[in-house]
Amino acid sequence: MNRYNSLIGLLILFFSCNFCFSQSSEELWLSYSQPLNNKLKETYTSKIKHIQIKTFSETGEIIKTELQMLATKMLDTSISFTSTTPQIIIAKIDNLDSKFKQKINSQSLVNNESFIIQTITVHQKDLLIITGKTDISLLYGTYCFIKQLQLHKDISSISITDSPKIQLRILNHWDNLDGTVERGYAGFSIWDWHLLPGFKKEIYYEYARANASIGINGTVLNNVNSNAYILTSPYLQKVKTLADIFRPYGIKVYLTARFSAPIELGKLPTADPLNEEVIQWWKSKISEIYKEIPDFGGFLIKANSEGQPGPNTYGRSHVEGANMLATLLEPYQGVVMWRAFVYSEQQSEDRAKQAFNEFAPFDGAFKENVLVQVKNGPIDFQPREPYHPLFGAMPKTSLMMEFQITQEYLGQGSHLVFLPKLYEEVLSTDTYAKGKGSTIAKIIDGELYQDHRITGMAGVANIGTETNWTGHPFAQANWYGFGRQAWDPTTSAESIAKEWLSMTFTTDSLFIQQMTPLLINSREAVVNYMTPLGLHHIMNAEHHYGPGPWIANMSRPDWNSIYYHRADSLGLGFDRTQTGSNALEQYPKEIQEQFSNIHTIPEAYLLWFYHVPWDFKMKNGHTLWYTMAWYYQQGVNEVKNMQQTWEHMQPYVNNDIYQDTRMLLEIQYSEAQWWRNACLLYFQQFAKMPLPEFIPEIPHTLDYYKALKFPYAPGIHPSWN
Ligand code: GCU
Repeated sequence: MNRYNSLIGLLILFFSCNFCFSQSSEELWLSYSQPLNNKLKETYTSKIKHIQIKTFSETGEIIKTELQMLATKMLDTSISFTSTTPQIIIAKIDNLDSKFKQKINSQSLVNNESFIIQTITVHQKDLLIITGKTDISLLYGTYCFIKQLQLHKDISSISITDSPKIQLRILNHWDNLDGTVERGYAGFSIWDWHLLPGFKKEIYYEYARANASIGINGTVLNNVNSNAYILTSPYLQKVKTLADIFRPYGIKVYLTARFSAPIELGKLPTADPLNEEVIQWWKSKISEIYKEIPDFGGFLIKANSEGQPGPNTYGRSHVEGANMLATLLEPYQGVVMWRAFVYSEQQSEDRAKQAFNEFAPFDGAFKENVLVQVKNGPIDFQPREPYHPLFGAMPKTSLMMEFQITQEYLGQGSHLVFLPKLYEEVLSTDTYAKGKGSTIAKIIDGELYQDHRITGMAGVANIGTETNWTGHPFAQANWYGFGRQAWDPTTSAESIAKEWLSMTFTTDSLFIQQMTPLLINSREAVVNYMTPLGLHHIMNAEHHYGPGPWIANMSRPDWNSIYYHRADSLGLGFDRTQTGSNALEQYPKEIQEQFSNIHTIPEAYLLWFYHVPWDFKMKNGHTLWYTMAWYYQQGVNEVKNMQQTWEHMQPYVNNDIYQDTRMLLEIQYSEAQWWRNACLLYFQQFAKMPLPEFIPEIPHTLDYYKALKFPYAPGIHPSWN
């Protein structure tokens, strides 16, 4: 935006809005404080004055409070909740008067969370109905209605029917019982285990409210690298308090169970899943949990990976481990989410192949209430990975997606990266599992395999005790976007960006027009300045922050950068074709055909699958070396563009957010340069070619970058410090 536009923008805002900068970052996308012009304000006010809520549950109270909050904050008015001549009726379909019910297509309420928002005409007057089968569906319908107002939509003849496409929409908290958060960059855990069960902090309600507003219906409270103590009776009391708070918001509580808990808590000599005493121990533990929390969701398990205990320790398989717990949870409708992220103790020929090799042969063997939870890519939440080959390879198993919302490998707390763009790329990828168009979205939402029992999507949370919840103000968008895509995995990143920006800041079109591309492009920017062309895992090995292509760990050569990028005098990249590890073989033939030719593989995955000569001629006619340098520079330039756009956004956001984001973008810009400089200097030793002319002079030597140390790196598992 040029200065002239920004001036016009300011004037428009000044004259047309009830203008105040009360956007509050604590209230996320629910502050109801965006500027609203007087005309719209009057229209909305006149339409929501009298509302009848025909449900007397706690959820009904939440609906009431939310609507009242909207009226007060957005419209400076209050709502009268009345049964005489209401303009809006919020009622379960079974409680609607038959004269209203017959005007509504209740067939479209396909599940217990679906809702309908519809304007009907009664005695020549408009009446707005929000209905569904359950209280929770009414809550979802209400949030959707509120969103229409936040987006300044015309609500005069509104007609919306919606339902979640995925059943389990879950946050995974990697929160430790000592209050730290593994890979968390937004402060400490919001669960105050010390003060629970007695002390019900306001933040628990706010957390539930925010999640309900985007349809998240489950939360795993503790880290996948788990501590068995969460399963002790005193801790279960604490968990119960949280479950009771979350229930009226439609959110179930789940726990990560440590597979060796029968040893640690039950003092048994083994945790062998086929041992009778072990089974009995779990049986009575599960019964204890359900006595306290009758709608407990179930267990998440990280087994035999990165030192976590599991069935393999006892010569048993993942299936034997998962099914033992699933059998015991079945009477209570509980589920097991068994993670496929397995990094075994033994060194593997190619880490990217391990999960597929361990899990694909078990297709069809897991019980119906087991979901296998698979990360989006075969390595580990990199800025870009090819999709995980298990998607499409286990048609008889409920596969659940695991995305990371916290930005472990993507600049952590300081880089602005809009992740729905990454999620969209993964979800829309074609696996060809049942012919063309077999996208990952269709696998995880069950469309492709109709007989699928349970569908799910998990996101590793980015929430902490920071006042704005997520540290970076724009990281809120990733939480929001995850919820939207878990609700409907075909939701576009662009529509999410627009919604989030409008709901959080302002619907002003000048703002939205400039900020939407900023968000959308931010994902490609991080790929470019960190790991272009299919490079991966070249971060510092422990805290995963900053470049570390030189990192070597000779005791575990498969856990370091050198292993992944394989730079040598001949070229760069990991040969995963037939001449190398042949990980490509794990993908369907359509992908193999395209990827097994170095000239037809998408360049975005080139170095993931090939060891490419430095002077290889790329599609742009330049060498690999030149092109790689071009991408690194492009990433830096993109961050510069983000800074320039942001400079003009001051009129639209409150000053704190403006200044914080400005400072963060400065950090991001200097770190994008750090990545470019360090990686290019390191790889140049092998390429032995000059830096292209567009790379500015690098002020330091490689040794300088190698010597940079962080005295404190947040978010690491305490035992790894
Ligand atoms: C990554 C991450 C760990 C985490 C692991 C997992 O390796 O760095 O902190 O425990 O993923 O997903 O289990």
